[in-house]
Amino acid sequence: MPSLPEHPEPAASASPPAAPWWETGVIYQIYPRSFQDSNGDGIGDLEGIRRRLDYVSHLGVDAIWLSPIFPSPMADFGYDVADYRGVAAMFGDLAQFDRLLAEAHAKGLRILLDFVPNHSSTQHPWFVESRSSRTNPKRDWYIWRDGAPGGGPPNNWTSDMGGSSWEFDPATGQYYLHAFLKEQADLNWRNPEVRAAMMDVLRFWFDRGVDGFRIDVMWHAIKAQGLPDNPPNPDYAPGMGEKYKVLQTHSTDQPEVHEIARDFRALADSYGERLLVGEIFLPLPKLMEYYGTPAMPGVHLPFNFQLLEAPHWNAGALARIIADYEAALPPGGWPNWVMGSHDAPRIAGKLGEAQARVAAMLLLTLRGTPTLYQGDELGIGVVEIPPDRIRDPQDLRQPGLGLGRDGARTPMRWDAGAHAGFSAAEPWLPLGDDWRTRNVAVQDAEPGSMLALYRRLLAIRRANPALNRGTLSSVAADQDVLRYERSDGSDRFLIALNMTSAERQLMLPEGADVAELVISTIPGRSFDGRLAPDEGVILRMTHH
Ligand code: GLC
Ligand code: CA
Repeated sequence: MPSLPEHPEPAASASPPAAPWWETGVIYQIYPRSFQDSNGDGIGDLEGIRRRLDYVSHLGVDAIWLSPIFPSPMADFGYDVADYRGVAAMFGDLAQFDRLLAEAHAKGLRILLDFVPNHSSTQHPWFVESRSSRTNPKRDWYIWRDGAPGGGPPNNWTSDMGGSSWEFDPATGQYYLHAFLKEQADLNWRNPEVRAAMMDVLRFWFDRGVDGFRIDVMWHAIKAQGLPDNPPNPDYAPGMGEKYKVLQTHSTDQPEVHEIARDFRALADSYGERLLVGEIFLPLPKLMEYYGTPAMPGVHLPFNFQLLEAPHWNAGALARIIADYEAALPPGGWPNWVMGSHDAPRIAGKLGEAQARVAAMLLLTLRGTPTLYQGDELGIGVVEIPPDRIRDPQDLRQPGLGLGRDGARTPMRWDAGAHAGFSAAEPWLPLGDDWRTRNVAVQDAEPGSMLALYRRLLAIRRANPALNRGTLSSVAADQDVLRYERSDGSDRFLIALNMTSAERQLMLPEGADVAELVISTIPGRSFDGRLAPDEGVILRMTHH
């Protein structure tokens, strides 16, 4: 089985170096449209989130990441920003944001915003100016090119949302680049004015007190000089989505992106402990470059999507993923793990309830900052979206390919009352079939619920340094059981996850004895040396 590099441990007597909050903390992603509606329009808003802060703080997380709340025509539900320094009227206003932030801080919760630097809405005043004439001072803030000599778009780049990455604009007879929707025009990060304007955006929010940012599609931010054609993807097959027609060799992950990261980081660090999380989908060695180097630091946490993307969910595959990720981390790079998002199918939908409980234990016992997506703590599974209720532009533009993201964006279920307590009106997306039985109120009252499990796991993680900042070792997979140890000095825990629906004998590491069952994913279990089907356990260990 894969072995892990040993992470050196400080001597037990030395006082531990102060760790930044995110190394022990847990991030909770809120999708504002779908958390809580306060004004009966069927769409969540900031005031709704404020009213639910006690729920979030009682859950036991440390920071909230809010998907975009900025003014936007909502072509991509806020990832098309029309004003980087405001709040969309449907979500509230700046005063409501300030109040939310102050109340969150008062409860010990931090707030991260979603920064979307790669592209703006085509309704952003910058783009409106840019498209107005070829000589406008903001022309070069976006990426404009003449068509190819024989006609057609300037190069072969394809949009992540399907079709060409280029849109012809008759007003000035040129094409502009858009890596996503045509309503999302890519900014030109080679232009120093764009960089300066975007740094000002970050300052604007840091000055208001926000605790950091999740940086949207960060690896897209700058393109190769000259915009050469991308190589065709030899593995492309129709049905994959047109984004996969070409390899994004020249349109993403350019070396200069790390200079941008360095500038963001320097600014964040100048404000104290502010966190930058980068959204980056790249193979491990490339992903790790986004941590930067001591001479040129990058973001604090390049999102690790290995669990979201795992092609096989079994003990061996996961042991390999954990070991490979840990081994690839640069010196001093703090790990992180993501198990759900507004872009990905829900984990409980993929695995079912029993294994989703095991997955919760995995997420909350691995070494590194976990990001938990709203609703996963209720075990929300697949929500079927009837065709007439599909809203995701990615699905609408390329129907039938299974690219829809609405299923993960359905509203939170708070109780069994009208519209699940989410709204006084019909919600913008359906709630799903099981909301009357799978909601916060029901699970609050059930000691064995998924919600209760999440709360206990979060509390156990918080109370035990071994399970948050501690070392990770002895990752192994054996007979469908994934196990690893977390330790801090003489404090040691064994995590054993039975990933099959058959009983398994627990193999203990050499020289280790079980001192205590800390928690099982199955309520009411006592430990007898075996793992029940689909059972995960945290065991406190002694060593002889
Ligand atoms: C990110 C967002 C996704 C959005 C895309 C374009 O991947 O998470 O929702 O569609 O960027 O901004
Ligand atoms: Ca609302």
